[in-house]
Amino acid sequence: MLYSIIDALQQSAVCINDILKKCNFDYLDSVNITGDSQLGVDVEANNIFKEFLLDLDAVRGVCSEEESDIVYKQDSSGVYLVAFDPLDGSSIVSSNLSVGSIFGIYNKEFSAKNLIASGYIVYGPRLEMVVAQDNVNHYFYSGEEWKNMGSLILNNKGKINSPGGTQKYWSTKHKILIESLFLDGYRLRYSGGMVPDLHNLLCKGGGLFSYPSTSDAPNGKLRALFEVFPFAFIFEKAGGEAIGSIGDSLHEGLSRILDLNIDSIHQSLPCFFGSKDEISKVKLAYK
Ligand code: F6P
Repeated sequence: MLYSIIDALQQSAVCINDILKKCNFDYLDSVNITGDSQLGVDVEANNIFKEFLLDLDAVRGVCSEEESDIVYKQDSSGVYLVAFDPLDGSSIVSSNLSVGSIFGIYNKEFSAKNLIASGYIVYGPRLEMVVAQDNVNHYFYSGEEWKNMGSLILNNKGKINSPGGTQKYWSTKHKILIESLFLDGYRLRYSGGMVPDLHNLLCKGGGLFSYPSTSDAPNGKLRALFEVFPFAFIFEKAGGEAIGSIGDSLHEGLSRILDLNIDSIHQSLPCFFGSKDEISKVKLAYK
């Protein structure tokens, strides 16, 4: 059953990749539910995922960053719910940087504890897909078929620092943490696309990606269902950790992301993804 969902996501990826190679990146007059301006390709990618996924018996409903509500199927006997961000990083697509799609597959309910598989697609120099279940499998598309390149596994400690958010709004605790990593020899890697930035960390064996509470956005920016939960699941399965908070981390403290409960499907949360060593440094810095 789960296999049919992965297959549908792979087919969607090939279609979206084709569109990205040929389309212009014009904005529409519309904004999505969170107020982001929509590109034509955001809407097209959303429709492709919806069409492929809602066609499956196994799927009861879907939820997208581009839709205001959950879309349920009539009279479905399926148990799976799929949440997706159809085109993440659309603000950098016009610079021809890599962008991606992110998905999470939930059993019966859209909550972190019900996540049973997740992954993402990278539209880069080549088309790649990562799927986390018991472990984290990395595929690329040859033009004819998806080839498995093996598992992604994080080292205990990495070398990359990917700090998100506007620096002038960072807290002092956060500034000290980020600076301490650079002083320790970590190198800056940040494109502004969650998929390529986290994919780089996973491919290079680890480091830290952070999108903290800031004074202008105490709840962070990245969306729980479409971005944060799927990547938390992937990082844990790859041997790393993911921590965050509901609300401002400076008041709430940091917890395991997959233990957090959200109140609404478009909720965002501050988050940290990394190898075990870097996450222990985050915990210490935010204590
Ligand atoms: O969700 C949108 C997004 O583009 C992510 O892909 C990315 O990690 C983040 O925003 C970048 O935000 P900022 O430019 O504020 O660092």
